Amino acid sequence: MKVNVSYLTKHFREIKEEVLVQGWIRTNRNQKEFGFINFNDGTNLAGIQIVYDKDLENFAEVSKYRVGCALSVTGKIVLTPDAKQPYEIHATKVVLEGDSPEDYPIQPKRHTREFLREQAYLRPRTNLFNATFRVRSLLAYAIHNFFREREFVYVHTPIITASDAEGAGQMFQVTTLDFDNLPLTDDKKVDFSKDFFGRHANLTVSGQLEAETYALAFKNVYTFGPTFRAENSNTLRHASEFWMIEPEMAFCDLDGDMDVIEDMVKYVIRYILDNAKDEMTFFDQFVAPGKIDQLKALLDSHIVRLPYTEAIKIFKESSHNFEVNISYGDDLTSEHEKFLTDTYFKAPVFVTNWPKEIKAVYMRQNDDGKTVAAVDLLVPGSGELVGGSQREERLDVLLARMKEMGVPEDSMWWYTNLRKYGGCYHSGFGLGFERLVMYVTGVENIRDVLPYPRTPKNCEF
Ligand code: 4AD
Ligand code: MG
Repeated sequence: MKVNVSYLTKHFREIKEEVLVQGWIRTNRNQKEFGFINFNDGTNLAGIQIVYDKDLENFAEVSKYRVGCALSVTGKIVLTPDAKQPYEIHATKVVLEGDSPEDYPIQPKRHTREFLREQAYLRPRTNLFNATFRVRSLLAYAIHNFFREREFVYVHTPIITASDAEGAGQMFQVTTLDFDNLPLTDDKKVDFSKDFFGRHANLTVSGQLEAETYALAFKNVYTFGPTFRAENSNTLRHASEFWMIEPEMAFCDLDGDMDVIEDMVKYVIRYILDNAKDEMTFFDQFVAPGKIDQLKALLDSHIVRLPYTEAIKIFKESSHNFEVNISYGDDLTSEHEKFLTDTYFKAPVFVTNWPKEIKAVYMRQNDDGKTVAAVDLLVPGSGELVGGSQREERLDVLLARMKEMGVPEDSMWWYTNLRKYGGCYHSGFGLGFERLVMYVTGVENIRDVLPYPRTPKNCEF
C-alpha cells in the first residue's frame, strides 16, 4: 500500500499490511548492524523514522545514502509507545530513486534565512518552509471557503491592463516593442499605437476597478490573484509581485466593509488554528513565541475602529519618543503603526476616515470635505494588512476629484460610466496575502513567505 506519511500519522494503528512511502532523507545515522533514517515526504512536518538492519539485502549501500537522497521505502509499521513518535517503519526494501552528493546545500544544521533564500529551490525541504508553505496553502483554501459560504463570486480580473488603479504610477510596463528600434511619433515620443495592444499597457497593481464593475452585477465578488508594484521599497514587507484578495460589495458602506474584513481575518485564523496544529506549534516554539495566544486573543476580541484624527491625538499625547513626529495630514510611518498595534492597543486596529490628500481618487468623500471613508487594518508585526474604502459613487463628486488629482477622464470612461448606469453605494478592500501569512506564522520577512520573491534587483529563479 502506497501512502503519504500524513496519512500514516492518522491511520498507523489500523494498517496491518506493509506500506510504501516515498520521500527524502533528512538524516541517516547508522552502526554496524542497523540504522535510522529521519525521513520526510513533505506531506507533514514531523516526517517519520525509518529503521533498517542487516537483514536488508542492500544494507551496506543504504548505510551510505546521504542527506537529500530520494527513496522508496517498503516496510512494516511498528508501534513505539515509549518514543517521541508513536510509531516507526521497519524497512524491508529500500530503493534509491535519486542520489544526492555530498555538496547538497541543505545539511542537518541551522542555516540562516539569507542562505536559504539563495537556495530557494531547495528550501521547501526544510521544516520552516514546509510549515510556512503549507499554512500559506491552507490560508488560500480558507479564504475561498469564507467567500463561498457567503455566496461571493470569484472574479478573475486581468493581469495585463491599461489602468493605474492606485494612481501611484508604480507599474511594470508590458510591451513587445523593439528597444533598439523604437517607433516614434512626429514629436519624437515612443509611439505606443505600434505596440502589441495598440496602446500603453502594464501589469496590474490591483484588480479593484474591474472588481467594482462585477460587484455592480453580482452584488458580492472577490478577486484573488497576483499584483505587481514597481516601487523601490526595500523593506521586510514589500514585494514587487504579491498576491491580493480584493472583495467588492454593492450596497455596503464602510462599517459593513470592516465587518467583512474582521469576519474574514478571524475565519481564516480559526481555520489555521484548527487545521494546522503541528505547524502552528512549530511557529509558536521556534519563530514567534506566544503567537498562538496572540491569535486566540484576537478571535475573542472586537477590533477597535479608530478614526485617523484620534490616532494623531494618541501620538501627540503619548510620551513615546518617535523618530518622526507626524501631524494631521501625514501618512503613518511603520513606527507609528507599530506603536498602535504593539504598544498602545497590543492588538490589531482599524484606522478609519483618512485625509483625502493621502488616499486614492476612488475613495468616497466624507461630509467634512476633508476626509475619505477609507480604512487600514494594522496588525502587530506586519503593519498594514488591509487597505479598503467605501467607493465614490457620486459621478459629479468623482469627476471633480479626478480633475483635482489630474486623473484623465478618457482613461477611466468605463469606471465613471459605472456611476451613470445604476450606480450604488459600494465598498471593498484589498488584503495583502503575504502580509497575512506573515501575521499568522510570525515569519518576519516577506521574502520567506513567497516561494520565489521578486524584489528590487532580485529576480533569480
Ligand atoms: O493599500 P493598497 O495599495 O490598496 C489597494 O490596492 C486597493 N485597490 C485595495 C482595495 O480596496 N481593493 O494595497 C492593499 C494591501 C495592503 O494593505 C498590503 O497588505 C498589500 O496590499 N500590499 C503589499 N503587499 C506586499 N508588497 C507590496 N508591495 C504591497 N503593497 C500593498
Ligand atoms: Mg494601503
